[in-house]
Amino acid sequence: MNPRTPARLAIDGGTPVRERLLPYGRQTIEDDDVAAVTAMLREPLLTTGPHVSALEVALAGRCGVEHAVAVNNGTTALHAMYAAAGLREGDEVVVPPVTFAATAVAALWCGARPVFADLDPDTLNLSAERAAAAVTARTRFVTTVDFAGLPSDAVSLGHATQRPIYCDGAHSLGATAHGRPVQATFAATTTSFHPVKHITTGEGGAVLTNDAAFAARVRRFRHHNLVLTPEVGPWAYDLVEPGMNYRLPDINAALGVSQLTKLDRFLARRRALAQRYRARLAPFADVLDGPPGDVDTHAWHLFVVRVRGAFAQRRRWVFEALRAEGIGVQMHYAPLHLHTLFRERFGHAEGDFPVAEDYGRRAISLPIFPAMTDSDHDDVIEALGRVLGVNP
Ligand SMILES: Cc1ncc(COP(=O)(O)O)c(C=O)c1O
Repeated sequence: MNPRTPARLAIDGGTPVRERLLPYGRQTIEDDDVAAVTAMLREPLLTTGPHVSALEVALAGRCGVEHAVAVNNGTTALHAMYAAAGLREGDEVVVPPVTFAATAVAALWCGARPVFADLDPDTLNLSAERAAAAVTARTRFVTTVDFAGLPSDAVSLGHATQRPIYCDGAHSLGATAHGRPVQATFAATTTSFHPVKHITTGEGGAVLTNDAAFAARVRRFRHHNLVLTPEVGPWAYDLVEPGMNYRLPDINAALGVSQLTKLDRFLARRRALAQRYRARLAPFADVLDGPPGDVDTHAWHLFVVRVRGAFAQRRRWVFEALRAEGIGVQMHYAPLHLHTLFRERFGHAEGDFPVAEDYGRRAISLPIFPAMTDSDHDDVIEALGRVLGVNP
């Protein structure tokens, strides 16, 4: 086709760039993953057992921490981390408004209040300055989020807020900060093994920490908070505080052990794709803001662009036009404080967190996952070129 003749957009009835939708994220399951799970199914124990222990040891080693406690998803990992931190009624936790709901909602389950603080406009992670301004006498700790995989700076957050820094690291397995795995820089960190994340166990998650007593509390919480009392009898336990069943089955852990051996390969592909986006999106500078961060320390769970200029008012149309072209764009995330729950319970309103709200109006997540091919990537660029009227 003559490059000067713009193709009719699929949203207007033209032929789409792709017939089948390219998802924004997808797991990579290989033959040895299948073999690991099917072999384990013949073992006597299906729930938490030796495969969970193996996953915990390997994960702690990979993340540069002493202890990993695996649980059944990233949401329950947050609840277990908050419970182990002793969070309770009357307490406050400072969190960013742009994150998945669980970062804040897990505090509500403990009876505590999530207090939002705006993002840093340069990193789009929690602003140390804004977090410090949100601290009160009730603030127990801060939970930062390594948004999209960009490592948070625990040192500046801790210095500014004078509180322990926890991390929702659902996006950042493999990211580094201060020359170490980012998980090693926080009081405790959670991760998620949901299929779109860096490695998967189907559903799963973990809490990572260097604090042995903290890890023991997470371990107890995931198993109903039962305290063994061998002095009473070999069968006996006592219940002091309520806990949950947040156990990860060994079936899932067997998959996790196999997947973890591939993390570096998966990360290398994510980074190559991010680098490729950076290069190919250069001609789009007038219509798109790219994501912040250094390619090699970032874990690139997401690659989020923000529409700008005239398109800043037309994000919904851009999103729908890209979907029509067969590109499975997503939106991570509408700012939490504007959800009904937080508007009604805490009186939040538009204008409370301008950086988060500006982000929330303009963000679009582009596809990025290890099995994405260069040809898939070319399709995304072609669709962006058509929809945004840029010759890539
Ligand atoms: C930032 C963040 N926190 C927590 C979670 C919850 O993880 P899970 O889906 O494993 O419960 C997610 C999942 O999308 C997430 O993106």
